[in-house]
Amino acid sequence: MNNENKLKFSDDALALAQRMIKRYPEGKQKSALIPLLHVAQAEFGGWLSSDAMDYVASLLDITSIEVYEVASFYSMFNLKPVGKCVIEVCHTGPCWLLGSDDIVKYIEKKLSIKAGQTTADGMFTLKTVECLASCGTAPMMQIGETYHENLTLSKVDDIIHECKATVVDHVTHWSKKEIK
Ligand code: FES
Repeated sequence: MNNENKLKFSDDALALAQRMIKRYPEGKQKSALIPLLHVAQAEFGGWLSSDAMDYVASLLDITSIEVYEVASFYSMFNLKPVGKCVIEVCHTGPCWLLGSDDIVKYIEKKLSIKAGQTTADGMFTLKTVECLASCGTAPMMQIGETYHENLTLSKVDDIIHECKATVVDHVTHWSKKEIK
């Protein structure tokens, strides 16, 4: 664990993190890891640097590797900088059968990036992710907390247009939200 870590939560985010930790019995504070990673991701620019993960480890009194293992497993955590709108297209079986590859290719062409990349203006990041549990409305993608379902190329156009018009403020989102 890095004790010289310069990153720190804002007062509000720290208070939220402490409330989350207190929900669990003494010695089981690691159970608050995923909620704290959401707060950290929001606080520190939409992604988790190693310093950010070290800081979370220090709050939970666990090792950094325990944090890295979890953060690198779940696709909702970004381990490198991302754009303001993170587009996550599901490419697992049912979505794939109903055209998720075409959706990904279409977005790649439209935004001039490949999956895993961010546009030069820092507006969009495109990711492909595994099943988001909305197989009945495939093909689908997630942006922030919103599911966009039964996608067509025309719907994708509308969604991207709307994203440009209403920039999602990921940075403050989770720190303002009480996670149930
Ligand atoms: S396969 Fe895409 S949501 Fe399940």
